[in-house]
Order: sequence, then structure tokens, then C-alpha cells
Amino acid sequence: MSRKVIIAGNWKMNKTAAEGRELVEALKAELTCSCYDQLDIVVCPPFTTIGAVVEAARGSRIKVGAQNIHWAANGAFTGEISADMLKTAGVEYVIIGHSERRQYFGETDATVNSRLKAAIAAGLKPIVCIGELLEEREGGLTEKVLTTQIRGGFDGISGEKMAEVVVAYEPVWAIGTGKTATPDIAQETHAHIRKELAAMFGEEVAAKVRIQYGGSMKADNARELVAQPDIDGGLIGGAALKADSFVALINEAMGK
Ligand code: 13P
Repeated sequence: MSRKVIIAGNWKMNKTAAEGRELVEALKAELTCSCYDQLDIVVCPPFTTIGAVVEAARGSRIKVGAQNIHWAANGAFTGEISADMLKTAGVEYVIIGHSERRQYFGETDATVNSRLKAAIAAGLKPIVCIGELLEEREGGLTEKVLTTQIRGGFDGISGEKMAEVVVAYEPVWAIGTGKTATPDIAQETHAHIRKELAAMFGEEVAAKVRIQYGGSMKADNARELVAQPDIDGGLIGGAALKADSFVALINEAMGK
């Protein structure tokens, strides 16, 4: 089963509109080879930078994602952004349930599930993040934690829609710490995730779902990680903030 590799940059709370535009222009200048069409390249700026980035990326092979979405269509939800707002702003992908949102902003598997349903209904392509804390990994709870996140987060989604969801496995202990899961550990965990997806949606759907790795991924380790059978790309934080490090990582992920 061949799954198209997807490399997405999560800019988190970085880059003004002008800085975002500049980064996309620099990426475009580097990503001219049609060979880059063999993977999906996505950047996910903060909300206020999306407009500038969509404009800069237009007509290029760079796709744009958001970092969050609210589940309601509209209404009294101060500070929130709806699916329709993202769609009409030119967004194609949306990150849901990042561990920083779970950790600092009260995100739960139930709210992840609501956001996912809103994204799917609007035709956005969701990137749903799951991952265990350090103490959970050390306590031998990784598989249990991931299973709970998968069952709660993907509850009530049809197999047809699930096949198009991207799952990002981000061990929380590897995010921004410089510690990466070894390719073996990452592969073993991705295989567990795919097994759980197969239990919920069947083998055929599970084989179609792209599972990204995230957590201190960079040019140095991208090749070996993406070479694993169940690792279909990466969700990148720090290394996505500069054109040279992001392009170097993309090249390694492609085996270039
Ligand atoms: P780093 O690549 O900075 O570790 O961040 C990973 C991440 O959280 C991407 O969503």
C-alpha cells in the first residue's frame, strides 16, 4: 500500500504576516523541482498570518493549514474560528488536538472529536494529533493512552472519511526537546496506531490513513523515520520555521 508522504510545518505562535510571506517565498524558490509533487507539503501558520500565506502560496505546491478550528458553525464563541472562516480564507488542512492545546487549553478527546467532525463536514483535511507524556511512556502506558485517544477522537467517523484523515503521532516528551523517538520506537508505536485504526475501521481504511511522526524531527533524522513502513511523513515544529532547515528535511524525507 503506497501512501503519499506528507510533511507539514506547524509554525505554532510564530511569524507575523510579513514573516510568513517571506518564508513561503523562500520555500517556493527552493521547491521548484516537479519531484516535490510526490509528497504533500503543508505549512500551518497562526490565524492572522493565514491570509498572507495563502496569497503567497497560490499556484505553488505549498498547501496551507490552520492550527485549530471550532466545532460550531458560528455564534458567541469569543476568540474562536469556524470551519467556514478557514475554508473561505483558502485553508486546506487543519491541525486538531495538538498536545499543546491538550496541555494548556483544556483540549480533550471529546473536543477533538467535535472539531474533527466540523472539519470533515466542511471538506477540510484534518491532521489529528495524539501522543503520550513522558511519565506515561515510562509507566508502560503508551499503547493504552493512544488507544483511548484514538477511540475518543475518532468516534462516529465513517470509514470513508477516516481514510482521508491524517494522524500525527507526537510523543509529548519529544516535542521541542531535541529528543526524538528512535525510528524503531516510532515504528512500533505507529504500528500500534494502525492496528487500533484497523480494529475501529477495518484493515482497508487503516492501510490508507497517513500517520505522521512529530517531535524534534529534522533533516538529520527525517530519512530514517520516514523510511519506516508505518511512518508516512512528519509534523514539524522548530525545523519548519526556516526555509533552509525545512527544505533540507523535505529532501531527506524524500530520500533525495
Ligand atoms: P518540534 O519539531 O519543535 O519538536 O515540534 C513538533 C510539533 O509539536 C509539531 O506539531
